[in-house]
Amino acid sequence: MAVKYIPEPFRIKVVENIQILSKQERIQKIADAHYNVFNLNSEDVYIDLLTDSGTNAMSAQQWSGMMAGDEAYAGAKSYQKIVAAGQDIFGYQFIQPVHQGRAAEKVLLPLLLGPQKYAIANMFFDTTRAHVEIAGARAIDCVVKEAKNISLRAPFKGNMDVKLLEQTINQLGPQKIGLVVMTITNNSAGGQPVSMQNIRETASICQKYHLPLCMDAARFSENAYFIKKREPEFANKSIKAIVREMFSYADMFTMSAKKDAIVNIGGLIGIKNNPELITLIKERTIAFEGFISYGGLAGRDLEAIASGLYEGLGEAYLQYRVGQSEYLGAKLDEVNIAYQTPPGGHGLFIDAKSMFPHIPYFQFPAQALAIELYIEAGIRTCDVGSFMLGNDPDTNEQLQAHFEFTRLAIPRRVYTQAHLDVIVEALINIKNRSSSVKGYEIIWEPKVLRHFQAHLKPIK
Ligand code: F0G
Repeated sequence: MAVKYIPEPFRIKVVENIQILSKQERIQKIADAHYNVFNLNSEDVYIDLLTDSGTNAMSAQQWSGMMAGDEAYAGAKSYQKIVAAGQDIFGYQFIQPVHQGRAAEKVLLPLLLGPQKYAIANMFFDTTRAHVEIAGARAIDCVVKEAKNISLRAPFKGNMDVKLLEQTINQLGPQKIGLVVMTITNNSAGGQPVSMQNIRETASICQKYHLPLCMDAARFSENAYFIKKREPEFANKSIKAIVREMFSYADMFTMSAKKDAIVNIGGLIGIKNNPELITLIKERTIAFEGFISYGGLAGRDLEAIASGLYEGLGEAYLQYRVGQSEYLGAKLDEVNIAYQTPPGGHGLFIDAKSMFPHIPYFQFPAQALAIELYIEAGIRTCDVGSFMLGNDPDTNEQLQAHFEFTRLAIPRRVYTQAHLDVIVEALINIKNRSSSVKGYEIIWEPKVLRHFQAHLKPIK
């Protein structure tokens, strides 16, 4: 089915020039980077799809707000503005700015978790899982089975498996569960949304067992847009009303503002109404991030986030935004290139296993595709597969990931239809020579989060 590209609901006022190296130069650059895309200089990249986090283009309104930033240490106007925006959009009493999403996790999670405790999520993002573990607790994923079937076009593949959630709570004992987390959209499952129905059901289980429910809300407005489009009850509701309802079922949220608030840095903690918890969060924010009225950010950053939170709710913007991955997905359908379907909110997760069936997981097919995309067209993506998963901490054996995804994360308001066509063409060219693509082996790796730094070499 032909999917029309949704025209940009903005015009471009400032541009950033990018250069295109020759293929020969790119072959040299990726070898110099030890075949790890994180070691590439961004000036050697043509289209950068490494992440949609902090890579967004801000609006004229956001930039002009930055000039109005109040840089007072305490009581700044910009702080009052972000608190008012947060209260208005999410309906929570307490809004705490922090410098990014993982800072929110670092401040909040140890207040609810500790040794012998568990946190359960639809799916944890890596840093959230890391902060659960740093707090001494263990993280358990309870995502629906449909998420694991990449060719299945289900509307809400990010959902919590609520039966499994309740079973897990009963098995471990409710007193052992410190927290339930709902990641919206579900990044690790491919940017797949969570339905309102599923949020309601999860919340009612949390209430039954007196467990706090926390939204990991990085891509909250993309999730709200999917609810509007896919859950008939919400077809005529505004995005803002949908967001309000989504958050009304939870007790708190952590948020990386670097995604749906369309900024380059920032994060938030939100607490619906829990005075003791709020006091503790303020204490820890002052210790880790800075005084509560700036939370590790400049006043100008608070201004940009306050505007961006509203811009991110715009329906024309969201239609264009989600439209970009839908356009990419439709182009790949025409040429039988498999990805996690339907397309995710923040990009496409290409199935490298089916692109390179001859490359075993321990030779990192998704990393091989990331390298090929760079060599073919200067496109930077990343492995979300066995290379990222790493080794078993006990046996040091390479673990096998369920998926071998190469993630094409689309920065907000940055690339055009022509850029997307370059990506499609590159994937087609790689597919046409896929049987000649080789796997990789690791020749050096650090112990923790190895994929950011490891050195690889092609298998002969
Ligand atoms: N939660 C989710 C769902 C995320 O996707 C991220 C970051 C974080 C928390 C942490 O936020 O980066 O501001 O500290 N995801 C980025 C990505 C890095 O590329 O998917 P942060």
